[in-house]
Amino acid sequence: MQKRKIIVTSALPYANGDIHIGHLVEYLQTDFWVRFQKMRGNECIYVCADDTHGTPIMISAAKKGVPPEDFIAESYKRHVEDFSAFDVKFDNFYSTNSPENKAFCEQIYVRLRENGALREERVPQLFCPNDKMFLPDRFVRGKCPKCGAEDQYGDSCEKCGSTYNPSDLVDGHCAICGEKKLETRESSHIFFELRLFKEYLREWLSGHVARDISNKLLEWFGDNAELMPWDISRDAPYFGFEIPDHPGKYFYVWLDAPVGYMASFKNFCSKHGLDFESWWNGDAEIYHFIGKDIVRFHCLFWPAMLHASGFRGPTQVFVHGFLTVNGTKMSKSRGTFISASTYRECLDPQFLRYYYACKINNTTDDVDLNLDDFAQRVNSDLIGKITNLASRGAQMINKRLGGILGTTDEEGRKILDEFRRKSDCIASLYEERKFSQIPVEICRMADTANEYFDSRQPWATVKTDPELTRITLTNVLNMFRILAVYLAPILPGYASKTAALFNEAAYTWDSVNETLENKPIGAYEYLASRIEKDKIDLMVEKSKQKTPQPEQPKSDIPEQKPEIDIGDFGKTDMRVGLIRSAELVDGSDKLLCLSVDFGPLGTRKIFSGIRKSYPQPEAIVGKKVIAVVNLKPRKMRFGTSEGMLICSGTETSGFSLISPLSNSAAPGDPIS
Ligand code: MSP
Ligand code: ZN
Repeated sequence: MQKRKIIVTSALPYANGDIHIGHLVEYLQTDFWVRFQKMRGNECIYVCADDTHGTPIMISAAKKGVPPEDFIAESYKRHVEDFSAFDVKFDNFYSTNSPENKAFCEQIYVRLRENGALREERVPQLFCPNDKMFLPDRFVRGKCPKCGAEDQYGDSCEKCGSTYNPSDLVDGHCAICGEKKLETRESSHIFFELRLFKEYLREWLSGHVARDISNKLLEWFGDNAELMPWDISRDAPYFGFEIPDHPGKYFYVWLDAPVGYMASFKNFCSKHGLDFESWWNGDAEIYHFIGKDIVRFHCLFWPAMLHASGFRGPTQVFVHGFLTVNGTKMSKSRGTFISASTYRECLDPQFLRYYYACKINNTTDDVDLNLDDFAQRVNSDLIGKITNLASRGAQMINKRLGGILGTTDEEGRKILDEFRRKSDCIASLYEERKFSQIPVEICRMADTANEYFDSRQPWATVKTDPELTRITLTNVLNMFRILAVYLAPILPGYASKTAALFNEAAYTWDSVNETLENKPIGAYEYLASRIEKDKIDLMVEKSKQKTPQPEQPKSDIPEQKPEIDIGDFGKTDMRVGLIRSAELVDGSDKLLCLSVDFGPLGTRKIFSGIRKSYPQPEAIVGKKVIAVVNLKPRKMRFGTSEGMLICSGTETSGFSLISPLSNSAAPGDPIS
């Protein structure tokens, strides 16, 4: 069969947040699909990048006090770590803040202008005199003009759903600095004339995106509401690419973000000696995986922009739904807004891969992660049904039969052939992204294999007929192996451990056709172990956002202690002491080391936590102080302390040593 050339993308994650399990709905399904294509022998290149530009990122960086370039470099590192922990294997993960992206944006812009697809217009916009910048809609907050709900964004109300202009907000103010006196200023903006591409889009939509999505978009075409001119420019200060002939104007982040797909692919081409033109504008298929929230950008603006600048459009845009956890939106207070890193601190990433495969299909329906069902599916199916075949089979062969496979027999071959006949069916499920049916098919086969295992009773026959048992186990392990190959796009780590167990190279789709006979196997390494419920609870607990306590001026003045009697007090032996020397302690920013003369009791070494109050210790040498002298000597990292100085004050207010007022007080005098 002809090898296909395929370029695949996932939407570019914003650089101002961590990857969470909602994002993973997208990155994991794309990864399943790409790995499947590769196993089939297709030339499939998976590219992505961080989406680095725009006002929110600029402001996050400023809040952190770092240049945006440093800020995005940090996120990049964290994103790459998360993706690799979840086995999301991009061929290139790049950044939209790249020279390739800048060049493509400029090229597209010039072509759009030459082709008459752009228009300039002066538009009024709210301006914050304090931040000296135009405020994007989302950076103006105030009361909804329709329903009066407090603290709404400048573009729409989350309570009543109405949309409006930022200047319509009641008591509108700057979300960055709180400034209430916002100005309205005019500035010229560049618009992309979407309506010019109505006919092209109508045609494109009918063949390149799922029917329900195109129908919805086409409905809007009627009143042209969706085909309004699209503002592709933003005023400085803006983190992004400056527009060539417009100093002080920048490309809106949503213009340069999808161009980032091309840029990342171009960067891949330069690194691997591929010809960009013959792929991107030639015979390669191009697929974008996206969530349903960004359909407008990918199914209207993007194809129109490509077409208008002489590039071909994507082959298909695959749109998925949103993640819910236990049936509702991810929530910080419920602990279900789970970041990729919190997940992996608690649980094995391959379990989420398996579970998402059970839930994701080629529709835009939302995907529910039910945490109980999650544990149940992994434990009973992946571990109980599938993995058990390998662990029971391989361990018995290794322990009792010298670790060597025998031959299959007729009964076994019948089952193996039945499994192999599933190959085309499972391949189409992958190809059509009907992932959720794949574990169903595989579990059915695992049931057959387990029934076979139980009916042959290898645990009993191994004592009486080892060679018959060897045949049984050879059949079982070959059955298991086929399941592992079918699962490989979903569970690549699991599949490669399986390949290692059988001393094989990485699997391709055709690996199912081989039968392993008369060869040694390796040591059985645990493929996966059960999910423990308390790990899930821990993950939820860790994800709960502590409702931030309003900052209270902190006081460390203690409450009054419980009453004591005079006898208790009498046990404390306090004396007058004379400070003979006082020094800073190397390695401690709290302690001073003093030597204090107590007259008849002798001179003692005392460590005291008063360095912050007495940064120049020489100043207190020669002063008389009060100290407790009958405390048990305390061993500290820097030496043993043989007493405690009495001070007034607290850690925050600072300490003040207590000194006898009269000069007649002598070292060693008791305090009473
Ligand atoms: N930066 C834009 C995409 C630019 S593409 C040229 C963006 N970034 S995002 O980080 O917010 O989202 C990245 C992808 O993850 C999007 O496709 C989005 O739909 C998807 N998801 C983000 N949260 C999600 C869920 N809770 N559930 C499922 N997918 C989700 O949008
Ligand atoms: Zn402001």
